[in-house]
Amino acid sequence: MKRIGHGWQVAVYEYGTHYVYKKPHTSYFFVCMTILKDFPPLILQPLKLHRWRRIVQQRQLASLRVIANYIHLSKYLAHPVIESSGAYYQSRAIPVYRYVENLSKEKFEELVDDYARLTYYLYEQGFIDKSFNFLKNFGILDGEVVLTDLGELFFGEQEIREQLEKRPWAHIKFILALSKEQRRYLVKVMDETFLSEKNNT
Ligand SMILES: Nc1ncnc2c1ncn2[C@@H]1O[C@H](COP(=O)(O)OP(=O)(O)O)[C@@H](O)[C@H]1O
Ligand SMILES: [Mg+2]
Repeated sequence: MKRIGHGWQVAVYEYGTHYVYKKPHTSYFFVCMTILKDFPPLILQPLKLHRWRRIVQQRQLASLRVIANYIHLSKYLAHPVIESSGAYYQSRAIPVYRYVENLSKEKFEELVDDYARLTYYLYEQGFIDKSFNFLKNFGILDGEVVLTDLGELFFGEQEIREQLEKRPWAHIKFILALSKEQRRYLVKVMDETFLSEKNNT
């Protein structure tokens, strides 16, 4: 199978034309190198690196175990079929970072509006993507934005509240590839979506 992507948790393989197979990493070394690529200073903190590696892998299994009960939301999650090992099949989507290349201002803003609606709907259903990593953890499937990374979900009420207070969607490391104007629009819409709700309760 041809590998078409990877993150900290899984390697993503082509599975026919329309599906992907996502397999948790088994190589300790590979995961450490992947984390180090994003956070080079961790090379000086091997114990912390080791801890991070363990936490992200455990979170993958825990997230998938819970999300397996959300079959009714399948179309928003690219139709996952989950194995007990923590590997899963999914419909193949166009990653957002690729989709946004050369998108007009109007189309980009429509996409962000859809993304805000999707993430808020999933929040109402009881979970969030921990990092709100719009570019890498979401994709476009049949013209709709969907959540493709099911390995870093938060389900606990307090955990979610604390995470929303941090406004992860505004963290520069997740949106660096966007233009200043695009970043400004994304952050404005997400703040309005998630923070005004919080102020009203
Ligand atoms: N369903 C999918 N279709 C197409 N590409 C995908 C799909 N899921 C993930 N990818 C690609 O693989 C990368 C890593 O997948 P992701 O689920 O975010 O893994 P991790 O949990 O390791 O971060 C994504 O950034 C994306 O480029
Ligand atoms: Mg990811």
